[in-house]
Amino acid sequence: MRVAMIGTGYVGLVSGACFADFGHTVTCIDKAVDKIDALNAGDIPIYEPGLQQLVAKNVAEERLFFTTDPTEAVKNADAVFIAVGTPTRRGDGHADLTYVYAAAEEIAGLIEGFTVIVNKSTVPVGTGDEVEAIIARTNPDAKFAVVSNPEFLREGAAINDFKRPDRVVVGTDSDAAVKVMRELYRPLYLNETPIIVTKRRTSELIKYAANAFLAVKITFINEIADLCEKVGANVQEVSRGIGLDNRIGAKFLHAGPGYGGSCFPKDTLALARIGADANVDLDIVNSVIEVNNRRKGRMADKVIEFLGGDVSGKTIALLGLAFKPNTDDMREAPSIEIVSRLQKAGARIRAYDPASMKEAEQVMSDVLFCDGPYHAIENSDAVVIVTEWDQFRALDLDRMKSSLKQPNVIDLRNIYEPDYMIERGFNYTSIGRAY
Ligand code: UGA
Repeated sequence: MRVAMIGTGYVGLVSGACFADFGHTVTCIDKAVDKIDALNAGDIPIYEPGLQQLVAKNVAEERLFFTTDPTEAVKNADAVFIAVGTPTRRGDGHADLTYVYAAAEEIAGLIEGFTVIVNKSTVPVGTGDEVEAIIARTNPDAKFAVVSNPEFLREGAAINDFKRPDRVVVGTDSDAAVKVMRELYRPLYLNETPIIVTKRRTSELIKYAANAFLAVKITFINEIADLCEKVGANVQEVSRGIGLDNRIGAKFLHAGPGYGGSCFPKDTLALARIGADANVDLDIVNSVIEVNNRRKGRMADKVIEFLGGDVSGKTIALLGLAFKPNTDDMREAPSIEIVSRLQKAGARIRAYDPASMKEAEQVMSDVLFCDGPYHAIENSDAVVIVTEWDQFRALDLDRMKSSLKQPNVIDLRNIYEPDYMIERGFNYTSIGRAY
């Protein structure tokens, strides 16, 4: 099949490379000339394990192309994917659809023969109808079907998520479009991945409902963690105890400093707006948003409290800044709020992250970015583990202890065992584990 992928952001690039690896001929299109030049030179603008190799392989085998000019690729395509950004619109929580609609208009004038237009961007319910209307209006002769095909990729694990998904969701009424979609995903179909065919609006809602439900799970366990601390229980054991119940499931029950990233915060907010516009109370979603926002600041309070209520003049080392490991993404990362609150309380911040320090420089000031974890820890009064990168899981504890001015460790990801840390002479605290 011939695929045109509009947008070479995270979703477009990963999906394009994976479809090429399935054997399809894929052209990724972006207006940003420097981005396309970089991609043609083999540089990948995002940090995603395995992506560089996958792109290089498929470029070399002449199945993957990058261009700023959509004309040829869209004209010849069986399927044109819209994978452009839908950021939160300034001032309210609605998703900004400017880029989606602009892409639809551009595609309309270029398609030839029956073409499936696939929306992969995360969009409010009804956007597919609007895309359909734009195309029909712009090119009344166009033969096309608009499909919703949401993505469920996690940053840092995106290639595996694409190639071994739990399910593929295809939202359309058109049998011809379903046929094209099945052909595109055929390698998965052979692996018996469920392909769910729904109405387009249902598919659009599935994406928001999935992200919101995961955000609910995380926020729920975070509140239970707070309770554990007060009543003398252990949240990891609670997670295990409830997660082994198949109806609940073990995943996304790790308590931590609150969810961040480019998806959960944006999508929960957008879902809340969709609810408000439809006059439906989405109280759970609304309180998840509020509880999670509050939590990030409360993590700084936890650090201050643990250090005796006053951090002014103290030096605090942060290990991990990205919103989660294996990414350089700083969007909505809890570290941003933690750093800013600690600084306001008078603390000096040293920090190290294996991938996100360049990004972090854009969103935090007066932070000493260090060369490695031990450099960050040096002469600090406390170390706060904010992101659970693997390399922080097995630090040399003796070295850490002798580098610190005070052996204070605040582990916001529960990657160390409390008893062991205390035995090794640390003042240690973590999330939801009373001892
Ligand atoms: C999320 C979804 O997991 C993907 O399925 C979805 O496709 C994607 O959003 C999207 O809409 O594009 P992602 O934002 O990359 O993926 O990251 P997650 O691994 O889901 O983590 C999100 C946040 O939740 C992180 O801050 C992470 O630290 C936090 N989290 C996750 C927890 O605090 N506890 C957990 O148990 C799991």
